[in-house]
Amino acid sequence: MLCGISVFAQRKETFLKDNWKFSRADNKENININFDDSSWETVSVPHDWAISGPFDKEIDKQVVAIVQNGETEANEKTGRSGSLPWIGSGWYRLRFKLDSQYERFWLNFDGAMAEPMVYVNGKLAGECKYGYTPFFVDITPFVNKEGENILAVRLENLPESSRWYPGAGLYRPVKLIQTHDNAIEEWGINIVTEVIDTDNQSAELKLDVEFTKDVEMEDAPLSLILTSTDCPMLQDRISVSSSHLSIKKTVKDVCFWSPENPQLYHLNLKLEKDNGVVLDDKTVTFGIRTVSVSEKNGFCLNGKTRKIKGVCLHHDLGMLGAAINKAALAHQIKLLKEMGCDAIRTSHNHPSQWQMDLCDSLGMMVMAESFDMWIYPKCKNGYARFFNEWWDKDLNNLVLSNRLHPSIVMWSIGNEIPEQGMKDGNAIARSLQNFIHDIDKTRPVTSGLDRIDNALSTGFAQVLDVPGMNYRTHKYVQAYEKLRHGFLLGSETASTVSSRGVYKFPVELRKNHAYDDGQCSGYDVECCSWSNLPEEDWVLQDDKDWVIGEFVWTGFDYLGEPTPYDGYRPSRSSYFGIFDLAGLPKDRYYLYRSKWSDKETIHLLPHWTWPGREGQVTPVYCYTNYPTAELFVNGKSQGKKSKIQTQETNFSKNTELLDRYRIRWNDVVYEPGELKVVVYDEDGNAKGEKILKTAGKPHHIELSVDRKTLTADNEDMAFITVSVVDKEGNLCPDADNLIQVKVEGTGAFKGICNGDATSLEPFTKPQMKTFKGMLSIGVISSYEPGNIHVTVSSKGLKKADVTIATH
Ligand code: GAL
Repeated sequence: MLCGISVFAQRKETFLKDNWKFSRADNKENININFDDSSWETVSVPHDWAISGPFDKEIDKQVVAIVQNGETEANEKTGRSGSLPWIGSGWYRLRFKLDSQYERFWLNFDGAMAEPMVYVNGKLAGECKYGYTPFFVDITPFVNKEGENILAVRLENLPESSRWYPGAGLYRPVKLIQTHDNAIEEWGINIVTEVIDTDNQSAELKLDVEFTKDVEMEDAPLSLILTSTDCPMLQDRISVSSSHLSIKKTVKDVCFWSPENPQLYHLNLKLEKDNGVVLDDKTVTFGIRTVSVSEKNGFCLNGKTRKIKGVCLHHDLGMLGAAINKAALAHQIKLLKEMGCDAIRTSHNHPSQWQMDLCDSLGMMVMAESFDMWIYPKCKNGYARFFNEWWDKDLNNLVLSNRLHPSIVMWSIGNEIPEQGMKDGNAIARSLQNFIHDIDKTRPVTSGLDRIDNALSTGFAQVLDVPGMNYRTHKYVQAYEKLRHGFLLGSETASTVSSRGVYKFPVELRKNHAYDDGQCSGYDVECCSWSNLPEEDWVLQDDKDWVIGEFVWTGFDYLGEPTPYDGYRPSRSSYFGIFDLAGLPKDRYYLYRSKWSDKETIHLLPHWTWPGREGQVTPVYCYTNYPTAELFVNGKSQGKKSKIQTQETNFSKNTELLDRYRIRWNDVVYEPGELKVVVYDEDGNAKGEKILKTAGKPHHIELSVDRKTLTADNEDMAFITVSVVDKEGNLCPDADNLIQVKVEGTGAFKGICNGDATSLEPFTKPQMKTFKGMLSIGVISSYEPGNIHVTVSSKGLKKADVTIATH
């Protein structure tokens, strides 16, 4: 029978990556087979047509009152959606050939921004509305099995359709899937962990497989052969005579998936004829784990209570815009894990498959969100235009495409949905939640509520499996008492604002404060009128068993929403991030790390280079997981201090609350030289120290690279951190030197970002000024194995270089 197998190829899945043609010219002729697109730009997908800029404040200038921020009067918002040219239409065209031995042909778009219309050989083959939804198009009726096919995709982005930078174009991968008539449906495999026994390391799994309808028409029953080398108890041969198969299996000696131990298993499914010919062959990756929420135990993973230490993330990747890249996504996840973060909320939309794959393999739990609005629009041309007609398809695709990911522990049906306070809101919430439960009974459903009083009085909050609170820490207790659940989640917390390396004096707790330079203070003492400081969440997380965790707004800065500078030019990206837009940690990173991670953290702020501040009070904070620390300025002790178990819970009363998690010396007088902290454990033993020195003049460039070896696949990336330092290697904290980047060899320059929310320098030209002495460079591999040589230079500074191998 082997010869049968060798002449009959099983499914073929191909990412359509290279040789796309792209144009902004909107012309009906673009769909035609004979249209001459030779003058169009050649691009690779994923692609974001807007990320190269230029920035322009007139783009998507919104004159609106942001109601959810408490605004009552409309005013001009310039950077709300990033000030990049994402508005308008764009076209992509691709010539492709099929393998004529197959019978079915599918295109899978993992998201396309926005309102994609998919034409194959001049005919409309499919469409979708929401730019974040993964969707399939069955192109079988439209294709030429022999010869060339033309795919044309039209995308359109309306002004005022987003509250943040959405990106533009085919920003997520496109896949061509070729199968026989008898095949496993795409998204047709589900493996659910029904029960686990942690004492015996065993689990009961339920496997469901959907086949194309044609399997029922076969003369003889087909067989499904299950093979797994890592979970051999799943092996089986099952006869298939209908389009749906469901079996249960007990597996032993398994390792349960968790962020700490992200064990994955693989199952190969072969659909075979009785003569041994394999019709379809697919391998899926899955994890074995359970998720539950209850009054008694809160949030449990594998039966163990844990508090979620999560961050919210928008989908853009800073310098890359919305165009996703596996290496960039992995880079983000690794940085978050280093901080002790164990969960991501994909705010406020469907995640990408690549991101979920990485969360599975690297160990990161996920709240997969769907919508930022339902029927009531938050911005004029937002998703509300489509909700009624499309919500079920969009939710269906979210759940079906993602249900195999063990990392996803919760679905969200929406963020701050205005209907939470409206009469019909709870009925809609119930429909959406039930819709999800019909497809996936294993994960709870949540929604982020910003008007808890309204959501309680309408019953909206009561409907949800998990009531999510966005901010409003002062309402937690009241909400908990009124809710039926006996627990609640901080679905969105903090929204503290800061700029990396910027410190404002005097150091004061401030809400909604705007400075002339468009920056926020790095002392982590500023937030919005509706939001709070990390500590206000932590007292609740620490003192109330019934708070099941939090998702901080946000892990990384993102393009758009430059609060508190919504109306200030030139700000065009957010200040909320624990990391800046370049992926560089702000001081707040160390504050979260000192709380979330067991790894030793000893961090001092601010920097110690303040010409002109001599003799002035310059408070010093230490972020550490040790309880006590002593500070020295040029060897003189500023006192030994310990964290204080204060009962304060509220930012507005006084600053004592901060002393529970930070060690602060508020009266330090600045003098240049050396700032040193020594930390002590509970028993008074000195455990470590950190020294900051006053920097001299910028002298040379220092580079550090996250990865020294890349895959030669034309998409793997390394991120290089550039620091301008003095002769001794101290960071020059105000350096704004213009940096030039030269990339030679088997790779190319991809992007650059300095994390300054007010910078209008393009991300895609190999030069930029450092911001507060630093910036980050992205370098991408080519298809060629060899070496990438990166040289970074700046006038008057000693240059630096780094070599990255590709193979
Ligand atoms: C929330 C909202 C987020 C973001 C954030 C900024 O209310 O859900 O999308 O706008 O405020 O603080």
